[in-house]
Amino acid sequence: MYINFWYPVALASEVTAEKPLRVKMLCLPFVAFRDSNGQAHVLSDTCAHRGGALGLGKIKGNSIACPYHGWEFGGDGRCTRIPSLGDDAKLPARAKVDAYPVQEKYGLIFAFLGDLPAAERPPLYDVEEYGTPQWRAQHFVFDVKAYYERSIENGLDPIHNEFVHQAQGQPSLSPEQQRTPLPIEQIPWGSKHYIKFGGAKSEDTALSGVRQGPRLGAAGSWHQGPNQLVTYIDLTATNSFHQYMFETPIDESNTRVFLVSLRNWLIEDQHEKRMEEVTRRVIAEDLLIVENLNPVRTPDSNTKEVLVPGDTAIAHYRDWLRKWDALGWRIDIKTLNERLGDYAITIPCPGRRTSDNWVQETVPLLQSSTSNRNPA
Ligand code: FES
Ligand SMILES: [Fe+2]
Repeated sequence: MYINFWYPVALASEVTAEKPLRVKMLCLPFVAFRDSNGQAHVLSDTCAHRGGALGLGKIKGNSIACPYHGWEFGGDGRCTRIPSLGDDAKLPARAKVDAYPVQEKYGLIFAFLGDLPAAERPPLYDVEEYGTPQWRAQHFVFDVKAYYERSIENGLDPIHNEFVHQAQGQPSLSPEQQRTPLPIEQIPWGSKHYIKFGGAKSEDTALSGVRQGPRLGAAGSWHQGPNQLVTYIDLTATNSFHQYMFETPIDESNTRVFLVSLRNWLIEDQHEKRMEEVTRRVIAEDLLIVENLNPVRTPDSNTKEVLVPGDTAIAHYRDWLRKWDALGWRIDIKTLNERLGDYAITIPCPGRRTSDNWVQETVPLLQSSTSNRNPA
């Protein structure tokens, strides 16, 4: 898992001005809340005073108050009040917690968990269809007892559909397509395949419906960054499913997936329940496989598995992971787990680039031997 990417924190509706929301991401505790203007904020959950969990406290106007001794922190992470020192006190410079850039999009709250300045940040995926009248969205949030890379790789894998999702009539590749490396296109921060599929079996199954327009029969998947996955199933020019998975590693063996599933057909209310049921069945089929993979974490070398042409997209994804390793963005999970318990640790926020004197130590990263070049 990596720092310096956008991670989904919660559904927008879960982050309120009434009660803070505690969220574990990248093995570490965070808190989300809204200020009196409705703006969402994400902070490290650990109070700079003596380690109280801010998320157990109260929201007071634009600040969150620690439940232990009432220190208040604004959305920018700076302490705004220490009750025991009185209202006229000069507050210590170290009285601050990490505060992360936030975007509210697609019905979700995202936080940038890293310290890069805005111009250098890998982007949050741009879902153009979201909110347009032609497309209807369904949201699904589910926890997977697996490492997030295994989940993303599952989404990039076109061969598994035929075996895992047989009952749903998911599009599958022709025998010819399965034996040749997938045509992969490199995109900024990721890799993509989009191809006409050979063996669609959707006629008599849950995906069947009224077809309009010329049959297209194309599908593909791609990733942007380590944790954003897109799947297009374009049955015809006008009948499509476009699914966007935003995934946050809770820790090294648990993942929270936020799926924004869009379709531009069967968008009337009466289809909603059936579409939800089909999607939930597909999710359940994937979970049974992904939660039982061995080893839990993606192997650090492809020689630990036997890859074939159908795994081309997975190999490309792993190549990208190595690029982010080389930037020094990969969290050193083993060292982190050794230190947790003895130290309060957090992800460095962009504010650390412009000020020092921070109380919490930052997450250990695996050292890279290469330069700090931007791979996009
Ligand atoms: S630990 Fe938060 S105010 Fe004391
Ligand atoms: Fe699947």
